[in-house]
Order: sequence, then structure tokens, then C-alpha cells
Amino acid sequence: MIDLDRVRDNYRALRSALPTARIRFAVKASPVPQIIRLLAAEGAEFDVASVGEIDQCIGLGIDPATLCYGNPIKKAAHIAHAHAAGVRRYAFDTEDDLARIAEHAPGSHVECRFLSSAPESRTPFGAKFGCAPSEAIRLLVRARDLGLTPVGPYFHVGSQQLDPVAWRIGVEQAGAIAEALAVKDIPVNSVNIGGGLPISYVDKAPELSELGAVIADAVARHLPEHTDLVVEPGRALVGSAGVIHAEVVNVRTAPDGRRWIYLDIGRYNGMAETENEYIAYRIETSRDGDTSDEAVIAGPTCDGDDVLYQRTRVLLPTTLRAGDPVRILDTGAYTASYSSVSFNGFPPLTVHVIGAERE
Ligand SMILES: Cc1ncc(COP(=O)(O)O)c(C=O)c1O
Repeated sequence: MIDLDRVRDNYRALRSALPTARIRFAVKASPVPQIIRLLAAEGAEFDVASVGEIDQCIGLGIDPATLCYGNPIKKAAHIAHAHAAGVRRYAFDTEDDLARIAEHAPGSHVECRFLSSAPESRTPFGAKFGCAPSEAIRLLVRARDLGLTPVGPYFHVGSQQLDPVAWRIGVEQAGAIAEALAVKDIPVNSVNIGGGLPISYVDKAPELSELGAVIADAVARHLPEHTDLVVEPGRALVGSAGVIHAEVVNVRTAPDGRRWIYLDIGRYNGMAETENEYIAYRIETSRDGDTSDEAVIAGPTCDGDDVLYQRTRVLLPTTLRAGDPVRILDTGAYTASYSSVSFNGFPPLTVHVIGAERE
């Protein structure tokens, strides 16, 4: 269940926390048509990861000029498809991808993703994306030589980043890149500070206002005046707007002596972010208030890894029985979008939308 009013509130809260930034919604977090239209009406731009997301946005009437093809992993044919659809902004982190963009999306605006030295986030990207900062300088010069418009550096501090210092470090590194490019007559028009803005689950996250203050301070210190700021949130706009309504399928004491509670939702039909127990969602039940005790929480499939929490301490009522409803809170981001495959024959999540799309 997605509450559009909450999405709107989240968007406006972020707008107040970062009043000068352009907000680019990462569609992958929740590609729900009503959310995309609502955010477009609020003035958002969109980060798209594939031709599927590009076609979906354009099909919904989104202006392709507001799309950025932000996935650094793209086939030539997909870049050509994006260009033909009117997409003129791309992110990259390798010379090969840059060459493909120059060939199939000539003249486009490009942002170079570098791997910042930010501390690890809750759901880290590791070294999968981003070049070294010194390479970003070389590649943005190369972009100009290939006839593209180098826009500036881009970093993502990892999703659900709980340490505001991460953005200070990223902005400082982006500033050094901007300075080096200025010497080569390449003005940096904008810096993309990525997503990663956290929300509170079981663990509390810093407030958006606190993050906004750290980012504004870093921008004032390290970026040339009048540099545009782009922020690319997914989770922060939609996470708190979603609730998953699930059901207890079975309860047993396993041979390991622990109480196991099996739900009708698991790792493969929406709870992908419980992998490595990265995200600890709050769970409400109809029996809250009864005596509670520790439990292992597992999904319904025949896969041994389909266990949500066995190290995280989860307390649930001892009276919980098969058939009881449970509510998994703050599940608006990276749930339905992950459950696109009917693993073990369990269908993907159905999304119900409440609230007004326009005020
Ligand atoms: C390129 C890109 N931008 C933005 C985001 C959004 O990140 P978050 O949901 O942490 O704000 C992601 C998430 O994976 C991403 O891959």
C-alpha cells in the first residue's frame, strides 16, 4: 500500500532541506505510475536505469529532457534507443561507456560517476560503480574532445547512508575535480550528489534537515559559486510511504530451539533488502501488547536463504498464530520493484495507491 500524500510530503520536506538542489527521483525505488506523475507535477526530474524505465516514463507523459540515463552499465543499442526517445543526459564511469554515448547519443550532456571515499552505507555498492577521482578528470576532458557536454562529477554514497559526513567527503572530492577541470577550461555546471538519503527503520536515521545543513556547508566550502546541485533520491521519497500487509503462515519451534515465524512474504517477493539483514523493518501485528519474545522471521519459499532475520533481534508476541495479519512498515522503496519475478510461483507484490495524485 502506497500513500501518495506521504510521497508528496517527503518531496516537499527534501525541497525544504535542500532548497537550491534539483531533485531527480530514482525511478527504480518504486516505478509506480501515480508516483512518477505526482513527482513530475511537483517539479522532479528522473534518474532512469534502463530502456524499460525510459519507455515507462515517456509513456506516462514525462518530458524526456527531464530524464537522466544514470546507470553506467548500458548497451550501445540501449543508448541509441534512449537518444531516439529524446534522452540527452547520461552518467558514465568508464571510457568504453563514454565512447558508446558519444557514438549513439552525440552531443549529449554527461556526468562522470567517481567512487567517493565515503564511509560504507547500510546497503553498500562496494566497488561496482565509479572511477577514481583522477580518472573522472581525464574522462570529462575526453568527453569534451568527443563532442559531448561534460556537466560535472557525480557520486553516490551508498543507499541508506546514515553518516552525514559521507556527503561532506563526496562534495569535497567533487570540488577538487571541478577545480582541476577549470584549469582545463571545462566549467563544472552541476554536481550530482546522488541518492543514499536515509530513512528511519528500526534504526533511527539523521533528519533531512541535518543532512541538508551538512551538504549546504560542504557546497559553500568546496564548490565554485553558482554550481547547480542535483540530488538523486529513491528511498527518501518513497520508503516511508509504503506498508506491506502480510500474514503469518506458520509458527514452530525448530530443532535449533528457536521460535520460527514464517510469513507469506520473503526475500524473493518483496523483502530483497533483508539480504545480509541490511535493513531491519519494523513489524506490527494484531497481537501487539501481548507478551513478546525473540523470533526468527522467514519467507514462504523452499529456499534456505529465504530467511529475513535470524541474527537481528526481533521481538514478536508469543501469541502470534497462522493466519494473523502483520504490517511491515516503511516498505515503499525497493520492495515491489524487486519482486518482479514470481520466484517459487509466489506472485509479485500488488500495489494499491491511496491519497490524491493532485491537490
Ligand atoms: C544511480 C542511482 N541513483 C540513485 C539511486 C537512489 O538511491 P537511494 O534510494 O539510496 O536514494 C540509486 C539506487 O540504487 C542509483 O543506483
